[in-house]
Amino acid sequence: MSYNNILVEETSPVATITINRPNKLNALNRDTIQELSEAFSDLDANSDIKTIILTGSGEKAFVAGADISEFADFSVKQGGKLAAKGQKLLFDLVENLSTPVIAAINGFALGGGLELAMSCHFRVASDNARMGLPEVSLGVIPGYGGTQRLPQLIGKGRAMELIMTASMINAEQALSYGLVNHVVPQGELLELCEKLAGKISNNSSVAIGHAIKAVNAGFKHDSNGYASEIKAFGECFGTADFKEGTTAFLEKRKADFPGE
Ligand code: COA
Repeated sequence: MSYNNILVEETSPVATITINRPNKLNALNRDTIQELSEAFSDLDANSDIKTIILTGSGEKAFVAGADISEFADFSVKQGGKLAAKGQKLLFDLVENLSTPVIAAINGFALGGGLELAMSCHFRVASDNARMGLPEVSLGVIPGYGGTQRLPQLIGKGRAMELIMTASMINAEQALSYGLVNHVVPQGELLELCEKLAGKISNNSSVAIGHAIKAVNAGFKHDSNGYASEIKAFGECFGTADFKEGTTAFLEKRKADFPGE
C-alpha cells in the first residue's frame, strides 16, 4: 500500500513506520491519522510482523502535535468529534494492538505526539528528545488520551504539573519519571529499538498478544485485570506456541514459535 504522509518498511519480523512530514515537524493532520490507522491495522494482520517501531522523520521531531492549522476554527461539536474519532481510529487502536509497538522518540513529542507515543506499548528516546502536553497554552486540553495515559505512566501529581504548566521535559527527566524506558544518542535510537524488537520477536507472539490484553485490562474501568489475566492465561494452553515453548524447554532446544 502506498501512503503520502508515512513510510512503512517491513523487514520481517520487524516493521518500522516513519511519520514523514518533516517540514511540519511531523504534526498529525487528518490524513496522517487515517494512514497510520490503516498501516497499523495491516501490519497487525500480517503474521510475519512480530514488532512495530514507530518514529518520526528527520532529526528534530517525533511528532510536534496534532496539526493546529486543521482545528483552529472548530466549533464545540467539531472539537468533540475530532477527539472521539482520533482516539478510536488511532490511539486506542495502537494501545490495544496485539502486535507490540515501540515508540522511538527522536525529538519533540508534544501534544498529540506524546499522546501517540504513550499509546505505544513502551517508549525509547534519543537524548535530544523533548516531551510535553502544551495544549492548555492553546486554550484546549489533551484530547487524544493524554489526561488518562500520562497519569497512568508517571503518576497524577507529575502529570497535573506537566499539563498545567504546559512545560516540556527532556529525555533524562522523562527517563527518571518512567515515561521512557531508555535514552540513547540519536544515532543509536533505531538500533536499540531494533535490538529490543528482535528480543520480542523471539518469543511467542500469541502469548505477547494475550499479555498486552491482560495488562491493558487493568487500566480500564469496565474490566477486571486479574480476571482478564486468568482468562488469557488459560487460553494460552490451547495454542501451538505453548506446545512448542514447553516442548522446546523440555528438549533443551530453542523454541521456534509458529505464532498460532
Ligand atoms: N501543528 C501544525 N504545524 C506545526 C505544528 C503543529 N502542532 N508544530 C510545528 N508545526 C509547523 C510550524 O508551523 C512550522 O511550519 P512553517 O515552516 O510552515 O511555518 C514548522 O512546523 C516548523 O516549526 P517551527 O515552529 O518553525 O519550529 P521551531 O523549531 O521554531 O519550534 C516547536 C519547534 C515544536 C517548539 C514549535 O513548532 C511548536 O511549539 N509547535 C507546536 C507544539 C504544540 O503546541 N503542540 C500541541 C498541539 S495540540
